[in-house]
Amino acid sequence: MKKIICETYEEMSAVAAFTIAVQVQVKADSVIGFATGSTPLGTYKKLRELYASKFVSFSAITAFNLDEYYPIKRDNPQSYYYFMWENLFRHVDIKPPQINIPDGSAVDPEMECADYDAKLMAAGGTDLQILGIGNNGHIGFNEPNEKLELMTNLVKLAPDTIEANSRFFDNISDVPAQAITMGMGGIFNSKHILLLINGEGKAEITKKIFDGTVTATVPASLLNLHPNVTVIMDKQAAGLICD
Ligand code: PGA
Repeated sequence: MKKIICETYEEMSAVAAFTIAVQVQVKADSVIGFATGSTPLGTYKKLRELYASKFVSFSAITAFNLDEYYPIKRDNPQSYYYFMWENLFRHVDIKPPQINIPDGSAVDPEMECADYDAKLMAAGGTDLQILGIGNNGHIGFNEPNEKLELMTNLVKLAPDTIEANSRFFDNISDVPAQAITMGMGGIFNSKHILLLINGEGKAEITKKIFDGTVTATVPASLLNLHPNVTVIMDKQAAGLICD
């Protein structure tokens, strides 16, 4: 995995945004995998600026998001659909039919997962997949486990994920207990994976993914097996690893 260690969160976000923008400049019809959470907020802010300054257009891209809570309606401000719309999509020229986010209100979530994989496969997988990492090492909502799923699946959220994500909700009991997530296969099918990590709170888990081992109990450690991963982090996240 290639490492880029940045001085600040802003610098990390700018490097990530330019990487995405250059991908789209080189291949206008790129398939981009988007992530939600606090980590990519700065990246999406910078992408909005790059779009506003006409540095990049998203008019021909196709988007696939990593995950969505289940059950949740798209107009719920806690949904990842809402997050993506507010933080990026409504500000740029992406075509709404080209936006793919698992439907957290699907009556048949298993069918929704199968449909999502079919669309992802028909698009040829992602050219660039943006990832954050949970404190427990999850990527998407692929939670630490003995076995990891390859395909998009309905997952029960780990208690530490529910606790971490409760900061966005009024009450911990409001956090949905399940989610639909792209599986490890969908993530690994990407031609280039961009893992973003910031903050001192992620230093321990960052150390684990660079300790020279892979384990399903730290799903992000499996990224060591992918041929093209770039990890962009701020120096707080990188505090416990050697350059
Ligand atoms: P965060 O979440 O960016 O809000 O820390 C990352 C994740 O859980 O994947």
